[in-house]
Amino acid sequence: MTEPKSLYERIGGADTIARLVAAFYPRVQAHPLLAPLFPEDITPVMEKQRLFLTQFFGGPPLYSQKHGHPMLRARHLPFPITPSRAQAWLSCMAEALDEVGITGPEREEMWGRLVITAHHMINTKEEAHDKE
Ligand code: HEM
Repeated sequence: MTEPKSLYERIGGADTIARLVAAFYPRVQAHPLLAPLFPEDITPVMEKQRLFLTQFFGGPPLYSQKHGHPMLRARHLPFPITPSRAQAWLSCMAEALDEVGITGPEREEMWGRLVITAHHMINTKEEAHDKE
């Protein structure tokens, strides 16, 4: 019997994840609420995200092999993640998913997981100047 294919395989595997990450970070760097949180040299962040999203969507556990348990919420605690920033992150990701052309049930499944995780990262109350 053949194993059911993972979400990672169904969207096209390593190539698709790499394209998604490449489409996402320029948007993050251009977003007024997100850009200030990220280092100028975004390359190491992109690489970690590529490893993470690979395993997050059911591919090989590349992130954990290199960096240990993701503990994503803990790793985000140094950064003030407000509801508006979570929303901004998700809007950049929606545009990246559009650019890469991920549609249909795979898009729905990815989106559901990303929304839950983004909301889980919120660790700071809204700041008045963040509201748009
Ligand atoms: C909710 C809004 C979010 C904001 C504002 C945010 C922001 C950040 C920032 C500032 C960093 C650190 C960059 C650095 O190394 O200096 C980071 C790292 C990272 N983020 Fe997020 N993030 C958010 C949501 C998410 C979500 C939903 C995921 C996964 C689906 C994610 C995955 C990661 C990963 C894997 C790293 C690298 C962690 C490491 O250091 O190993 N982030 N994020």
